[in-house]
Amino acid sequence: VIFKSAVEASKVVAQEIAVLIKSKQVENKFCILGLATGSSPIKVYEELVRMHKEDGLSFHNVVTFNLDEYYPMTKENRQSYHYFMHQHLFNHVDIKPENINIPDGTVVLEELNQYCMNYETKIKNAGGIDFQLLGIGRTGHVGFNEPGSHINSGTRIITLDHITRVDASSDFNGIDNVPKRAITMGVSTILRSKRIVLMAWGQNKATVIKRTIQGEITSEVPATFLQNHSNATFVLDQFAASEL
Ligand code: GLP
Repeated sequence: VIFKSAVEASKVVAQEIAVLIKSKQVENKFCILGLATGSSPIKVYEELVRMHKEDGLSFHNVVTFNLDEYYPMTKENRQSYHYFMHQHLFNHVDIKPENINIPDGTVVLEELNQYCMNYETKIKNAGGIDFQLLGIGRTGHVGFNEPGSHINSGTRIITLDHITRVDASSDFNGIDNVPKRAITMGVSTILRSKRIVLMAWGQNKATVIKRTIQGEITSEVPATFLQNHSNATFVLDQFAASEL
């Protein structure tokens, strides 16, 4: 779906999430959201906060699982996705802290495999992700599933692509400060979501969006795996869609 602007598109995406949260409330069920970081979802979070404050949208039945976190990374660090999520969403809505799940960048290396398996189990035990929000990196990554990520991959530690570290360098005051690794949900974790919305804004995403939507399905562009998902939508502004 192509919109004129990211603002307009973000409102539509936030509206879909709000409708889902409310429909689960009517059924007395939890709403399981898979959430993303980066600049792309910021306006969606802004709109959800506005709906909470002005329209009384409650997050009391919302459980969230974030896609990824840098490794190693403390929660207090301003570059952490933990910090990002609290700053943009969690601090401003009535979600219960125990319902927030973000990969923990402080787990010791020897315990990471078990930690990642537990993250998967927690998603499964929650009933799976109802709605997964995604951005896309210039390498074609979703979460931090860099080129080479297998369709069957689960939550794990990965090595960040050089391009991804270049793109993150402004947040970290230089590439040398960007972590070399991250914890990410896997491609299969993402593909098991009942509904997926990938958002991309701006001209610098146009090439990867063309490869993702019109290119062959390949682990070299992990976002292409979404082509086979039965309920995935790409929400684009006119600039990100300009090479289609
Ligand atoms: C990071 C995140 C991704 C995100 C990507 C794009 O790499 N791990 O989940 O999609 O950035 O970021 P932006 O939305 O700022 O372009």
